[in-house]
Amino acid sequence: MRTVTNFNDGWLFEGREEVRLPHSAVELPFSYFDERVYQRPFTYEKRFTADAAWRGRDAVIVFDGVIANTRVELNGEVIAEHKDGYTPFEARLTDRLSDGENVLTVHIDGSENPEIPPFGGMIDYLTYAGIYRDVWLRVTDPVSLANVKIETPDVLAGNKIVRIMAELSNPNRVPLDGELTAVLKDATGTEIARTRSSVTGEKVEMSLEGLGSIRLWDVDSPVLYTLVLALETANGKDATSTRFGFRDVAFNTEGFWLNGRKLQLRGLNRHQSFPYAGYAMGRSAQIRDAEILKHELKLNMVRTSHYPQSTYFLDRCDEIGLLVFEEIPGWQHIGGQAWQAESVENVRRMIRRDWNHPSIVMWGVRINESADNHEFYLKTNAAARELDITRPTAGVRCITDSELLEDVYTMNDFMLGHEELGGNRPRTPLRPQREVTGLDHRVPYMVTEFNGHMYPTKSYDQEQRQAEHVRRHLEVLNAAYGDPEIAGAIGWCAFDYNTHKDFGSGDRICYHGVMDMFREPKFAAYVYASQCEPSEEVILKPVTLWARGERNIGGVLPLIILTNCDEVELQYGDNPPKRVVPDRENYPHLPHPPVVIDHRHVSQSEIGSWGWLWQHGTITGFLDGKTVATARFTADPKPTRLEVIADTSWVERHETVRVVVRVLDQAGNKLPYLFDPVTIALEGPAKLIGPDVVPVLGGSTGFWLRSTGAGPIQARVSHARIGSVTIDLTAR
Ligand code: GAL
Repeated sequence: MRTVTNFNDGWLFEGREEVRLPHSAVELPFSYFDERVYQRPFTYEKRFTADAAWRGRDAVIVFDGVIANTRVELNGEVIAEHKDGYTPFEARLTDRLSDGENVLTVHIDGSENPEIPPFGGMIDYLTYAGIYRDVWLRVTDPVSLANVKIETPDVLAGNKIVRIMAELSNPNRVPLDGELTAVLKDATGTEIARTRSSVTGEKVEMSLEGLGSIRLWDVDSPVLYTLVLALETANGKDATSTRFGFRDVAFNTEGFWLNGRKLQLRGLNRHQSFPYAGYAMGRSAQIRDAEILKHELKLNMVRTSHYPQSTYFLDRCDEIGLLVFEEIPGWQHIGGQAWQAESVENVRRMIRRDWNHPSIVMWGVRINESADNHEFYLKTNAAARELDITRPTAGVRCITDSELLEDVYTMNDFMLGHEELGGNRPRTPLRPQREVTGLDHRVPYMVTEFNGHMYPTKSYDQEQRQAEHVRRHLEVLNAAYGDPEIAGAIGWCAFDYNTHKDFGSGDRICYHGVMDMFREPKFAAYVYASQCEPSEEVILKPVTLWARGERNIGGVLPLIILTNCDEVELQYGDNPPKRVVPDRENYPHLPHPPVVIDHRHVSQSEIGSWGWLWQHGTITGFLDGKTVATARFTADPKPTRLEVIADTSWVERHETVRVVVRVLDQAGNKLPYLFDPVTIALEGPAKLIGPDVVPVLGGSTGFWLRSTGAGPIQARVSHARIGSVTIDLTAR
């Protein structure tokens, strides 16, 4: 039987520092740094003793992800090489181990190797350097299970089928005769069906048929099943279990269909980067990001721009019902033949790693925003179709009239804002698909990026700019919902991210997120959140900092209130309240248009102007005439309360937890222009990621702590004027 042991501990980095994986070769400042500091070679070394029990068995080190150009040596002999930074690879120890101590050396190179994607041109993101995902030691019998593909054809039919394709690992080419048993279990572990097949070669195909009461995987009910495979041959036993779901996806000219039901796609792009640590954030941070996208932003889709992301992230997407459009590494640039061959391999590696995730509904097989390249993209499409006939391919472009070799035409439509640059067209949120494709017929089509660099917005930008940021996200979503030829829209992007000097605001940050780098929402986040049904959560978010002199000329009108309430009331000071319904006229297609309050509803004499007394306000949301939410604003905000909230009150060993810090006024609103420092002090088995004195930005900041053992942890956050707040966590 197999044993899989975590191999993250006890690495010597650069010959001097003992580190634990996942690890970033260079911890970066929050902003204004030189990204070239990590663009060089680094070495990791780990000493271990071979266990006598491994003798006669197959011992392999599995790397989940290393950036980049990795060379692995065992006792000085090269045992594996892998250039790509986003997919797993193995280094086989079998027959090479010494008695006593062994030395495993991992050479990486963070320089942007122009021979492999995504490098060779400019890229608007950082790739960092390091063994940034987990490493495992896997010991199996000489014949073991290598990979399994599970397909569920025809799930809409009465009797369901599971098709299984198992690949065996048999590095020493020993005789294979044996048997493979497949057991299907539901989420409670109850056996539902089983089958057996004799083993004669390295591939075994079998199926489970006539399955009766199977529940489908859907965004609202992400039901998962497990397939347990048990192998028995003369040369060994092995067992694996793999989660999957029964679901049917289709993209056609009418849109996207999940289990035969049309679903409008609403998503955002995600980079897998975090402040300071870059890519090197483990399981809990990956899980948390998926939850933020689904439960806070209420999205039904995420695009893994622009590379395969952590399987922890994808596993969580499976569990919570968040659809995924997964991408290969690349950004605008296409290299030479060898580079292209590597990209085709990237397609294969991505699909072979991830083909059992029910959340993944589409493979990206085109270098993001690259030019057409007939030969190359024939190959990437063919590779995907050969490996997986159950999912469509897509190719993200930003050029029009581009050759469609994929199943879905996916377009980054950055038209909104072009009119300001002197374009000769009126404000157009999205172009009709035929104007983009240049085709005379309708094709499966979706928008995979919009806004982003057209309107970078900081959480501490002027209210008017933030309101315009909101409006642009509203307009595009409304347009996507209103165009039957568009299956959905994925905006740029979920979170602000660190980038190269050639992009962003000069400080190495692209402020393109609807959330900042700490995953704290900007107003635009509520454009997405407010599209959920109030039965899931009532959203009421007035897009205002509530001040007389914040906007040009002054005042807070027109006031956008992002909400799924059916009526909203504004009370300014002690004036009579005004009730306003959602703006269906300007946003007719949104599930939940915002309420927009302006001078039609509130007269100048009621709200006053420059030179008038500024007063408090109350905004109330109603559903069916009942009060369901209230937002209060003070006319005289002061730093009153320090809010310190950890995502969870516990943290697993060596894992991280995010803590959000907000400076609030008397009414509980963030103080947007308070840039004071806060100090963070930890006690107990935990380490802070990043500095211990940080500025509050836009009323909030955050940090991640990493547990270093087990026991109670106290995190104390202090602000000079308010004092300190201590929260208790448990590392378990
Ligand atoms: C796109 C690109 C993204 C990001 C975005 C900014 O062109 O695909 O990676 O750079 O622009 O808006």
